[in-house]
Amino acid sequence: CGIVGYIGHREAYPIVIKGLKRLEYRGYDSAGVMVYDGTSVKLSKTKGKVSDLEAKAKEITTTGTIGIGHTRWATHGVPNDVNSHPHVSNSGDLVIIHNGIIENYEPLKKELIKRGYKFHSDTDTEVLVNLIEEVQKKENLKLGKAVQVALNQVVGAYAICVFDKKKPDEIVAARLGSPLAIGVGKDEFFVASDASPFIEYTSNAIYLEDEEMAVVRLNKPLKIRKIKDDSLVDPYVQELQMNLEQIEKGGYDHFMLKEIYEQPSVIKDTYRGRLHANEGLIQMAGVEDNLEKFLNADRILIVACGTSWHAGLVAEYIFEEFTRIPVEVEYASEFRYRNPIINPGDVVIPISQSGETADTLAAIKLAKEKGAFVFGVCNVVGSSISRETHAGAYTHAGPEIGVASTKAFTTQITVLTMIALRLAKAKGTLSNSDFHRYLQELEIIPEKVQEALETNDVTKTIAAKFKDSTNCLYLGRGYNFPVALEGALKLKEISYIHAEGYPAAEMKHGPIALIDEHMPVIVIAPKQGHYDKVVSNIQEIKSRSGKIIAVVTKGDTQVRELADYVIEIPDTSDALSPLLTTIPLQLLSYHIAVMRGCNVDQPRNLAKSVTVE
Ligand code: G6P
Repeated sequence: CGIVGYIGHREAYPIVIKGLKRLEYRGYDSAGVMVYDGTSVKLSKTKGKVSDLEAKAKEITTTGTIGIGHTRWATHGVPNDVNSHPHVSNSGDLVIIHNGIIENYEPLKKELIKRGYKFHSDTDTEVLVNLIEEVQKKENLKLGKAVQVALNQVVGAYAICVFDKKKPDEIVAARLGSPLAIGVGKDEFFVASDASPFIEYTSNAIYLEDEEMAVVRLNKPLKIRKIKDDSLVDPYVQELQMNLEQIEKGGYDHFMLKEIYEQPSVIKDTYRGRLHANEGLIQMAGVEDNLEKFLNADRILIVACGTSWHAGLVAEYIFEEFTRIPVEVEYASEFRYRNPIINPGDVVIPISQSGETADTLAAIKLAKEKGAFVFGVCNVVGSSISRETHAGAYTHAGPEIGVASTKAFTTQITVLTMIALRLAKAKGTLSNSDFHRYLQELEIIPEKVQEALETNDVTKTIAAKFKDSTNCLYLGRGYNFPVALEGALKLKEISYIHAEGYPAAEMKHGPIALIDEHMPVIVIAPKQGHYDKVVSNIQEIKSRSGKIIAVVTKGDTQVRELADYVIEIPDTSDALSPLLTTIPLQLLSYHIAVMRGCNVDQPRNLAKSVTVE
């Protein structure tokens, strides 16, 4: 979910609505807004997107300089008008927006019902707002104090904003597990899940830490406290690096397409100042400072979710090949709940675009408890994961807004490749000439990615042929097996076509049964790598009349003869090929989704940043 709050001298409603639109990547199944007009609370909420909310909010007066709003990704209770936020307490005085889950809501709800409270929605949030009200009444407390006492009774995760009609010059904000940033302007404050709703108003932001709360009051200095022990915290004001242009579409039809096309330049941003091909050097501060830990590692454990997990799989192949350090890759959600074996000699690498994924964050905490060294690979500067890890490397991909991850994936692979190369150099596990060759190849990868983007037209033609398929198979070997998984995930996510990625050779142990003349099979078959083996797999598909779409190296003739369609990409070494083979697969799913009329940037049921487990 995404939350926005404003208190100041401007009209709150347009700020909140625009902010919610920027936060829609965090969830978009329902939305709501509250504006205080000086005398009363105006509330509007609806199932659907923020644009639906805008249409509906016409029923209320939207003038007023205090407002809060919410865009939801449902956890408790189906997306409908009633379950949408904000939620109001029984007296009608308190209004809350909440991102997260209250796990012990049931006993709290029972207790409140006993005390006469009525509930209108199925949400855990309505329990929280009434709990705050009960505390406030019983102990005759100010809002801030009441929120604090209530939160100390709550188990779960939250980022909240609470407004009290009785004291309409303040908003109380608190965080545990879900992100919350406070924008500090001149005589005005913004509260939001990230800084994007307020970057055009102020570049000063305070990121609340877990278990901190803030009372944001007009014309008063901001007070931040620890929720547990009430101690005051010195607010640390950060200067934001983001700019408005980065979070706008810049002439593209969709954020996803813009982000696909940004890959040549963001990969360069990722290696700038780190990769020095001419000098034969890789310099990454976080790695240099902890080189011994990496070199003494018995094992590297990679934990991540979704696309980041696929980047982890590519990294497994690269690390083991280059450094000979054993690597395991695990879904963060599995890792955290299965009592994993973690030793102090292990290096744990969490990978995350957002830096907020709840399962990945929990996996990090577990690894730290067990004494492992945790090195994060993260895109969002200042995110929870970047702060929770011992050290790390940013991917510098810039804000990624399309829900289906693209540039985050390729920049993650870039960072991980550089780490592997640095360690290989220190360990002597790559020959000098190989090391230098990889450095040089990596340096010119952005130009090759640019060339790979020229497959746009051919992927569009192929998309038109296969847009009505109901199933799709993606095959690859070695470094390109994870690319097959990622290709299938992209298609599933945005076009809702069922797709599976498979190691090409495994096809004969199951998926081959699915192949007939209706089944498109996308085979990743670059010249380097296990080319001949992949060609045999293509033969197997052809003998069963499957439709073959092959991603091949420019100039390939052998596969061209067998395949129904070929997509040509530039040549590079096997280990770096995922950075190129991925590109046409991203474009293919993009075009198919557009042709099917799907909402590319905001596919149904998904969210960009999953801050609940
Ligand atoms: C969600 C997003 C995916 C992303 C995954 C992990 O499912 O929709 O695109 O890969 O979360 O997110 P992270 O921010 O940790 O990389």
